[in-house]
Amino acid sequence: MESNPTVFFNGGFMKKEDVCISPDDRGFLFGDGVYEVIKIYEGEPFELDTHLVRLARSLAEVGMKEIDSRQLEKACRSLIEKNDLAGRDASCYIQITRGAAVRKHPFPEKETPLTVYMAVTAHKEDGRKKEQGVKVILRPDIRWNRCDIKSVSLLPNVLACQEARDEEAEEILFVRDGAVTEGSHTNFCAVFDNVLHTHPEGPNILPSVTRDVVLRLCSRLGIETRLYPVLESRLEKADEMMILGTHTEITPVVLWDGKQVGNGKPGPVTRKLQEAFTALTRNR
Ligand SMILES: Cc1ncc(COP(=O)(O)O)c(C=O)c1O
Repeated sequence: MESNPTVFFNGGFMKKEDVCISPDDRGFLFGDGVYEVIKIYEGEPFELDTHLVRLARSLAEVGMKEIDSRQLEKACRSLIEKNDLAGRDASCYIQITRGAAVRKHPFPEKETPLTVYMAVTAHKEDGRKKEQGVKVILRPDIRWNRCDIKSVSLLPNVLACQEARDEEAEEILFVRDGAVTEGSHTNFCAVFDNVLHTHPEGPNILPSVTRDVVLRLCSRLGIETRLYPVLESRLEKADEMMILGTHTEITPVVLWDGKQVGNGKPGPVTRKLQEAFTALTRNR
């Protein structure tokens, strides 16, 4: 990775080292901000509009000012060029906070400018997890009731993911009211009798862009889907499980809480979706 990449900060381009963020920034003080992560395949952002629409929604849901999506798109494409990432795989991170102001809980004055930061960095894949599958553990969903907002307040997700790593698992699956909602940084799907089940959109999950893509692929490939919470009590009957995300893509789950999924190997529905996903993202 370039040690001092060019980034976009509050309307201009500069070296990352020169970015100066106030200790009064509400992102730092309160986690009062939203973000997006966009995968860039061979120099081309994937589902950029879908990510920017979700970002606009997150901003609106937390009462922050609108941001010009076209300016963000231009900045993303400029950063790919400026950091010599044309034709390469990379990751774009965008964070917007409610700006810097004296530390008080209510929103600051309307004129307070938002803090806008974007970085594009090279991203190298380790394909082993997608090939072999991963292990997950289940834990109670201790998060708030607005998981549909892509907020930077991620402490419960950070603690949960660390717990998973401490147990040598890739991900935690959160369970609320007896059903799996999603992972700490991924969406969750399970296959029963060739039907793909995943939690419906709503306040308990992030409207995952990858989930959206997978549902579209299912419809194209004739794979039946059911948008219904997957009950923890039914997991033993699942033929396949997978976690989805911008960087996770479609990763098979082969072990949950020490129990094998199906025959312990990634299943045919997962493989079919992975293949279609690769065709969609590569050689566009
Ligand atoms: C909590 C949570 N759920 C799901 C996802 C997957 O979303 P996407 O497919 O848009 O990356 C993420 C990604 O960061 C996440 O943090």
